[in-house]
Amino acid sequence: MKSVKYPKTMFSFQSFATFTSITTRTLPNSTSDRRYNSYPKQIHHLQISCNVAPDDKEKLVVVPETQKLILPKSSLDTLNVDRRNMLLGLGGLYTTVNFTSPAAFAAPITTPNFSTCVTSNLGFQDPNKAVRSRACCPPAPATSTAPKDFVFPKDQVIRIRPAAHRTTTEYVAKYKAAIQAMRDLPDEHPHSFVAQAKIHCAYCNGGYTQIASGFPDKELQIHNSWLFFPFHRWYLYFYERILGKLIDDPTFALPYWNWDHPNGMTFPAFLEDDSAFDAYRNRKHLPPALVDLNYSGSDRHATCIRQITSNMTLMYKQMISNAGDTTSFFGSEYRAGNDAYRNGDPSVGSIEAGCHTAVHRWMGDPGMPNNEDMGNFYSAGYDPAFYIHHANVDRMWKLWKDMGIKGHSEPTHLDWRNASYVFYDENEQLVRVYNKDCVSLEKLKYDYEYSPPLWKISRSSIRRTLPEPIPYNMKSAETVKQLPDVKFPLKLDKITKVVVKRPAKSRSQEDKEKANELLLIKGIKFNSDKFIKFDVFVNGQDDVSESFEEESEFAGSFAQLPHNHGDDMLMKSGIRFGLTELLEEMEAEDDEFILVTLVPKVWFEEVTIDEIKVELVPII
Ligand code: C2O
Repeated sequence: MKSVKYPKTMFSFQSFATFTSITTRTLPNSTSDRRYNSYPKQIHHLQISCNVAPDDKEKLVVVPETQKLILPKSSLDTLNVDRRNMLLGLGGLYTTVNFTSPAAFAAPITTPNFSTCVTSNLGFQDPNKAVRSRACCPPAPATSTAPKDFVFPKDQVIRIRPAAHRTTTEYVAKYKAAIQAMRDLPDEHPHSFVAQAKIHCAYCNGGYTQIASGFPDKELQIHNSWLFFPFHRWYLYFYERILGKLIDDPTFALPYWNWDHPNGMTFPAFLEDDSAFDAYRNRKHLPPALVDLNYSGSDRHATCIRQITSNMTLMYKQMISNAGDTTSFFGSEYRAGNDAYRNGDPSVGSIEAGCHTAVHRWMGDPGMPNNEDMGNFYSAGYDPAFYIHHANVDRMWKLWKDMGIKGHSEPTHLDWRNASYVFYDENEQLVRVYNKDCVSLEKLKYDYEYSPPLWKISRSSIRRTLPEPIPYNMKSAETVKQLPDVKFPLKLDKITKVVVKRPAKSRSQEDKEKANELLLIKGIKFNSDKFIKFDVFVNGQDDVSESFEEESEFAGSFAQLPHNHGDDMLMKSGIRFGLTELLEEMEAEDDEFILVTLVPKVWFEEVTIDEIKVELVPII
């Protein structure tokens, strides 16, 4: 047994002890594959410790994250931030909006009048056993006047959302008083706990159609597309202001569940009593259990160090290597006339499909027929943890944008900017809000307490020890032909390997700065009432199903919670993974083909995939 030491990073925090090795498998004898004996030089690992008490208030500077992140030079190198930033001056090579596409003439998604809202009746494994109401429409407005257009708040004070694991006793008391006040309102009140919870169900389980945009037969859905981030930002914006109003505190801010930081990876303990308690949670996942950001529906019983390492690497992938362009991070375009789940070319963003869905599933009660509350979209809003979870999801949008990496920008298309939703504001006034008005936290008058995004230096490493030589020589087209014939649409009922040709090989640094190389998995069709998940590996070994996420060959995963889907059971989505860094780490840049391995994690029937391809996507 040979244990391998990782190079130590210069970036470390006082409260973290040194972390040495995660792999103890034996080194192979074979040296036939170049990857066995040459390892990349530039891998930096976090030094983490599991000895930190969960309530340890680490010595972190608490400042709003608008203050720019200062990382030591060594970690910036691993981020490749510098080289991409240098390209900012190269703009103009590609244009942002393609006006020749027919979609350019379509319209933004517009939330209709509440009177058109209907009861959700689909999207449940067992509708008759639903413990939460499926009548999700909001209370009718007191007067029939149309919603007012949103105006930016004039608040003097910026609300700073604190990290849940660092909140003070006073803050927690205030938070619970606000939730209690909300619970005390009658259900018919637009600010009541139940009315607020139902907002999610109405927008996710078929409460609205696209009637206001001229498509009464099309469902309005805010998941699985570029509406995911803005809708949830607005939802929390009003929820927070309503809570503040209920306790008469104009500075009140929601806490965020800092699951991307080692000290925030347990469920926030204060949610387990008083008004914040929810009966439908997975009791096995209360502290001290560490969240599994790649949760597939069963516990992996990883050691603490390994779970943290996996979570951090996943965050790196979902925020950086798999999120290099707008579509990869936000999800695909979705406009009036589109079916979010069937026609067109839908795809889900890296955070939505990844850590977001994993945390939902991890918290839902496996003993409940529909995995209530967090494990199903119709019921998720009933758990106060939902809003704390989504505050961190929202924070990811902010962190992603603030990295200043070229390509990290919101959609610019007018159909994104002008998409709108309707909410009751803190004064019970109906307000129409637009995506374009939620891109600046400064204007919305809230921000996040600083917590270091340690995953920024958690780039994955290739496996130090490999059990068997790779069975296919990826360089030779002839060996590729020996693979069992794979037919599309591909039925994903078992571990499946596919060889995919790259549009270009041996890409220079300059090429990489102009375009990201992405693996696209398109037309994933599945049944809407099931939890779906599969993992994707590139150039993986035969035992990839046992791999953890810290290994380079792990590209990412696709996961979806049960949804409503309209009038049949079939839904469609897609996902994109960045290949540039992955191939660099595996020293496979000169290969003509990649071997993609799809590993179904939650065994399911009837999942098919239309197409798997590698594409070069310009960095704009
Ligand atoms: Cu609307 Cu976490 O989902």
